Amino acid sequence: MVRLPLILAALGAALVLPAAAADATTSALASVSTVYSFPSGSFVENLAVRANGEILVTRTTSAELVLVDPRRPGCAAVVYNFTAAGLSGMTGIAEYAPDVFAVLAGDYHFGKSVGVGSWTVFSVDLRGVRLSKVGCRALAGGNLPRVRKVALVKESQLLNGLAPHGRYVLASDTFAGLVYRVDMAEGAYAVAINSTYLSKLATPHGVNGIRVVGDTLYFANSGQSILVKVPLAADGSAAGPYTVVAHNEGPAAHYDDFAVDAEGGIYAVTASANTLVRVSADGRTQTVVAGNWNSTDIAEGTSAAFGRTACDSHVLYVTTVGGLLGPINGTVIIPGALVSIETDSRGAAGLY
Ligand SMILES: *[C@@H]1O[C@H](CO)[C@@H](O)[C@H](O)[C@H]1NC(C)=O
Ligand SMILES: *[C@@H]1O[C@H](CO)[C@@H](O)[C@H](O)[C@H]1NC(C)=O
Ligand SMILES: *[C@@H]1O[C@H](CO)[C@@H](O)[C@H](O)[C@H]1NC(C)=O
Ligand SMILES: *[C@@H]1O[C@H](CO)[C@@H](O)[C@H](O)[C@H]1NC(C)=O
Repeated sequence: MVRLPLILAALGAALVLPAAAADATTSALASVSTVYSFPSGSFVENLAVRANGEILVTRTTSAELVLVDPRRPGCAAVVYNFTAAGLSGMTGIAEYAPDVFAVLAGDYHFGKSVGVGSWTVFSVDLRGVRLSKVGCRALAGGNLPRVRKVALVKESQLLNGLAPHGRYVLASDTFAGLVYRVDMAEGAYAVAINSTYLSKLATPHGVNGIRVVGDTLYFANSGQSILVKVPLAADGSAAGPYTVVAHNEGPAAHYDDFAVDAEGGIYAVTASANTLVRVSADGRTQTVVAGNWNSTDIAEGTSAAFGRTACDSHVLYVTTVGGLLGPINGTVIIPGALVSIETDSRGAAGLY
C-alpha cells in the first residue's frame, strides 16, 4: 500500500456559461443545465455519483479528482491530486464498495501519447468526506479522503472505462482492445476478456465505456460503432454470447460511456454528433434525448450517470469536452462541463 501526499485545494474560478440558445430542433428535446463548467481546454472524461448526491469528476487533462454538488452549481473542490504520483490525467471511475471508488490515472498527455505503461488503479475512500456546507470549495465531514494505490497495470495502453464486478473492477483498454480485471483487495490483475468485439479499428479506437448490471457487461466499442452486451462469469470473463445491441451513425458520432436505466435502456453520448441518445433494451429504437449537431447542449459528451437521491434519481448527469476534439458543427468550442438532463427514466438498480 502506497500512501500519497495529500493536497487539497480549491479549483480556479468556475466559468459558468448561459444555457445554449434554444432552436427549433432542440426545443422539443429535454432541457440541459450546466452544473459545473471547467476551465477552457479541460477534457472532462468521466463521473461517478455518490449516494449523498455529490458527483466525482475526472479529466484526461488533469490528475486532480474533483468533487461537485449538483444542488449547488459552481461548487467544487479537489478531492485528491495525483500529480504528485507523477501522473497527469484521469479516466474511469466507479464505486466498488459503499462510498469507496476505484479510479484510473496515468501519465497521459492529451493529443501526444496514450499513457502506455503508466495506468494505475487507485482506491479513493470517501466515507466521512463531503463538500463543505460553508465554503463550497473545500472538503468537510471529519475525514480526509483515504487514497491507496491498488495496481500499476504495466502492459496497459489506454485504460479508460471502469466497472465493479464482485471483488474486481473491470477496466477497458481502448487501444489494446482488452478488458482487464483488477482485484481491489490484492492488487492482482489479469486480462479478463480478449475478443474481436473489443478490438480497435483505426479510428477512433476499440472498447471504451463499460458498465456492469447484475452479471451483464455492457460496453461501447467506439471504433466499431457498436454497443454490446455479454454475460459475465465471476472472474470477469465472458460467459455467453455477445449481443450487438445498437450501432451509432458513424465514426464521428461514436458511442462513448453511457448509463443503463431501470428498463435496460441505454443512455449514450455520441461524440461529435453532440447528442445524448436512448437505445431501448431490445435495441430497436434509438431516440435523441438532448442535443444536436449544431447545439452546445451536449457538447461532445463523454459519459453519463443517473442521480441517486430521491430528488434527482431521474436526472442524468453528463460530462462533456466542449468540442475539444471535434468543434460543434466544425466551428465552436466551449469549456468542458458537467451538465444535467431531466429524463423519464431511473438508473438501473445495483449499478453502483
Ligand atoms: C496538483 O499538483 C500540481 C503539481 O504539484 C500543481 O501544479 C497543481 O496546482 C496541484 N493542484 C492543486 C489543486 O493543488
Ligand atoms: C488476444 O487474442 C489474440 C488473438 O487470439 C492474441 O493474438 C493476443 O495475444 C491476445 N492478447 C492478450 C493480451 O492476451
Ligand atoms: C445547423 O445549422 C445550420 C445553420 O443554422 C443549418 O443550416 C443546418 O441545417 C443545421 N444542421 C443540423 C444538422 O441541424
Ligand atoms: C454552429 O453552431 C453554433 C452554436 O450552436 C451556431 O451558432 C452556428 O450558427 C452554427 N453554424 C453553422 C454553420 O451551422
